[in-house]
Amino acid sequence: MKGVILAGGTGSRLFPLTKITNKHLLPVFDRPMIFYPLECLVKAGIQDILIVTGGQHAGDFLKLLGNGKEFGLKHINYTYQEGEGGIAEALSLAEYFAGGDKICVVLGDNLVERNIGQAVEDFERQPSGAKILLKKVPDPERFGVPVFKGDRIVRIEEKPKQPKSSYAVTGIYFYDTRVFDIIKTLEPSERGELEITDVNNWYIERGEMTWHELEGWWTDAGTFRSLLKASNLVAETGANNL
Ligand code: DAU
Repeated sequence: MKGVILAGGTGSRLFPLTKITNKHLLPVFDRPMIFYPLECLVKAGIQDILIVTGGQHAGDFLKLLGNGKEFGLKHINYTYQEGEGGIAEALSLAEYFAGGDKICVVLGDNLVERNIGQAVEDFERQPSGAKILLKKVPDPERFGVPVFKGDRIVRIEEKPKQPKSSYAVTGIYFYDTRVFDIIKTLEPSERGELEITDVNNWYIERGEMTWHELEGWWTDAGTFRSLLKASNLVAETGANNL
């Protein structure tokens, strides 16, 4: 399985911190944010990794990460997203890199406490389709929220005003190679983006989505409060632990 980290976008929610740098280069406790999703993939056994970035400071990723020696990698792949057309648009840039393999996608502003190796193994064994990781949160309206019928997810609603469950769809996704053809059929949402939630709903409608509840803490770091929370959580327990 190959890994894709999505680190494009303008980080406008963190303005003015993001006026002179990319959101994913901001510090989370003692390391730049991008270190965490990268380490998350490497510790789960994924070595072939693409970073999709964008904006004015894309060159700084190369300066910071180089070929990933610090993470035990021989090589890192990079690509550039023009503008910020959404998470699914950023992912579409990984089609050539994926080359028909299954992929594990991690949003560049997502952090986890525990190693996701078990989910990677489970998706290796899943013949086709997609997989998402969920986490119970106090503020689901900030996220993609699954709607359940019993144990089954019937759809995901993106940032619903009245969430129908207390779970967030975390920014760790697993897809088979059809994901790139699905993205080509998407229309931009009201916020003008190609939404990853529409991709996930495509798999759900066809009964091809599995899910798993994450153990340990999970947070994004894309708002002032969640950035502070992420730093505190990492300071307390560290991230990507076994
Ligand atoms: O954090 C999990 C949530 O991430 C999910 O629950 C939501 O369903 C999903 O839509 C997403 O929500 P956000 O609105 O928080 O996503 P945001 O726009 O902050 O983007 C998250 C990351 O995705 C960002 O750190 C970099 C990457 N990204 C985003 C956009 C819009 C790109 O690479 N390119 C883009 O154009």
